[in-house]
Amino acid sequence: TPMPTTHDDLRDLPSYPNERDDYINPARALLSGPPISPLRFVGGSAGWLVTGYHEAREVLRDPRFSAERWRGDDAMREVPESIRRERSSGAGSFLAMDAPEHGRYRGQLTKYFTVRRMRALEERIEDIVAERLDALEAAGKPADLVRHFALPIPSLVICEMLGVPYEERELFQTVAAQLLRQDRTDEEFVAGRAALQTYLGTLIQAKRKEPRDDLISLLTAVDEFTDEEIAGIAGLLLIAGHETTTNMLSLGTFALLRHPEQLRRLREDESLLPRAVEELLRYLSIVNAFPVRIALEDVVIGGVTITAGQSVAVSIPAVNRDPALVDDPDTLNIERARSSHLAFGYGIHQCLGQHLARIELVAGYRGLIRRFPGLRLAVPPEEVPMRSDMVIYGAHELPVTW
Ligand code: HEM
Repeated sequence: TPMPTTHDDLRDLPSYPNERDDYINPARALLSGPPISPLRFVGGSAGWLVTGYHEAREVLRDPRFSAERWRGDDAMREVPESIRRERSSGAGSFLAMDAPEHGRYRGQLTKYFTVRRMRALEERIEDIVAERLDALEAAGKPADLVRHFALPIPSLVICEMLGVPYEERELFQTVAAQLLRQDRTDEEFVAGRAALQTYLGTLIQAKRKEPRDDLISLLTAVDEFTDEEIAGIAGLLLIAGHETTTNMLSLGTFALLRHPEQLRRLREDESLLPRAVEELLRYLSIVNAFPVRIALEDVVIGGVTITAGQSVAVSIPAVNRDPALVDDPDTLNIERARSSHLAFGYGIHQCLGQHLARIELVAGYRGLIRRFPGLRLAVPPEEVPMRSDMVIYGAHELPVTW
């Protein structure tokens, strides 16, 4: 495919279609195109969109594609110019680092996020879910499921893990909402990140003096990490740890309410929950137009030559609907055998928090199903404000009744 070079050609390229069909399904354009196609990036450069499952795995495991965001252009937001000039994605923020630097951070964290460690948290997570079910009930019907249930659960869990006081959630929840808004300005990005760094910097100093039984305290004991790096790591975990799971809890509930026969099956047989979670992760694929990688040299994938310096956006929603992954991909089937979906990414950056997320999702959906047998939407679906303006899809609010 010849890439456009002139300004006019570029204008004709499609940009990433972030809106969803029927509130949930990836835009048709994403599902019907070739596995790799040209895409106009927010910063105005021409790059590539990957929608094919095999092609996505090739990109995500190939070290010739860099995750260092300052090198390239985003599909949905621009990396601020000031960050490009720094030629850095920020101390400690290993999501945007390549090997071997990435491994220096990830290696220290992996041991805290194993299946075994996360299982040990299960009981505490169930208590948190029970408290939030009480809070939802106490709010009275109709109530916003996001505010009373889907947002507090992952926020409380990640706060406890890191040792961040939940009473101080306002700051990181606001920063997260700002950073993940598609149309946020460079100034907002820089200011939001700085506010989070400052807040965490103070917290880290307090923990150096008086360590507690939490992850930030443990990180202060790693000799090689500076306060700035620990703040970067903690900031990444705080944001990645609550925005994603929150939206899976609420959008998953919305999807089940719109597929009553699936919800009924789940109520009849709770042992289907782990499979249902996996299928909802695949079907909903809340991470939009991300991961983005930048070619460090010319690479041929799926017969297309990606030129050094070009950005590639992997569309997880499209990839997870590729018939190369599962049969009948556009059907939500909670009894489907677990698939090798890419909802948590693939390669060295595959989600560090995935075991935790699965436990939170199973506990959250199970709690809702048991406590509210008559759960239903309190407004027509078209009145639910969807997050088409955000990098992570979901619902801004989900009014429910029971
Ligand atoms: C990475 C999705 C929950 C922490 C990722 C990536 C995806 C993802 C797609 C890969 C990004 C890339 O390749 O550039 C999700 C989804 C979640 C979830 C769908 C919930 C349903 C969590 C939680 C935590 C977390 C609960 C923290 C406790 C991280 C971190 C990375 C990451 C630290 C970066 C890993 C690395 O660069 O090595 N996640 N995530 N995530 N996630 Fe998650």
